[in-house]
Amino acid sequence: MENGKLSNRFDKDAITWDDLPRRVNLAKTVVNNIIPHLNGNEKVLEFGCGTGLVGINIAPFVKELIGIDTSAKMVEKFNEKAKQLNLNAKAYQKDIFEINETFDTVISSMTLHHIKDLNALNDKLKSITDKVFLADLVKEDGTFHTRGNDDVEHFGFDTDELKEYFKGWNMDYKIIHTIKKHKDFPVFLIKLYK
Ligand SMILES: C[S@@+](CC[C@H](N)C(=O)[O-])C[C@H]1O[C@@H](n2cnc3c(N)ncnc32)[C@H](O)[C@@H]1O
Repeated sequence: MENGKLSNRFDKDAITWDDLPRRVNLAKTVVNNIIPHLNGNEKVLEFGCGTGLVGINIAPFVKELIGIDTSAKMVEKFNEKAKQLNLNAKAYQKDIFEINETFDTVISSMTLHHIKDLNALNDKLKSITDKVFLADLVKEDGTFHTRGNDDVEHFGFDTDELKEYFKGWNMDYKIIHTIKKHKDFPVFLIKLYK
């Protein structure tokens, strides 16, 4: 689906995004698994930052956290929270493909499956950073998004697909979480480094 429509869907979701405990819990696990890899002095980009469930909680552990998201409402929520907490974090309404600035580390959670061209994403990531953390669903049967798959480009990923998409990196792969819905949906975290 083209980005305008995608951002509208997430615009609607932004208001109640943080109300789902399963989202908050997943984000906590992602944060806890990334923090040990940070040195406190990094400039970090989070793409698909949403309301900041991950980025806002990473910000205290880095020099600067920049969030980007194609949804204006998600960005608004992120910035409200960052301001309230007086954090070194700011979000902008941007697509990852618009980013040309370089970062020490790039992170993202549950956004990969919404991005169609992952070869292009890999080229973009290689051009802007040396270290990436990506969390997303393990290959699923298409039933994860119970409201439909209109904006879903991939039904999760198996390790062979990830190796194929993210060529040119060293990759560490770990299952970090299970989302419990009508069935279990495991979530992986990959670390890509040069
Ligand atoms: C499932 S949400 C995850 C939000 C957040 N990371 C979290 O875990 O709560 C995916 C987010 O990615 C954003 N998104 C989708 N494609 C994007 C792109 N190409 N560039 C930046 N953001 C994108 C959507 O607007 C949405 O807010």
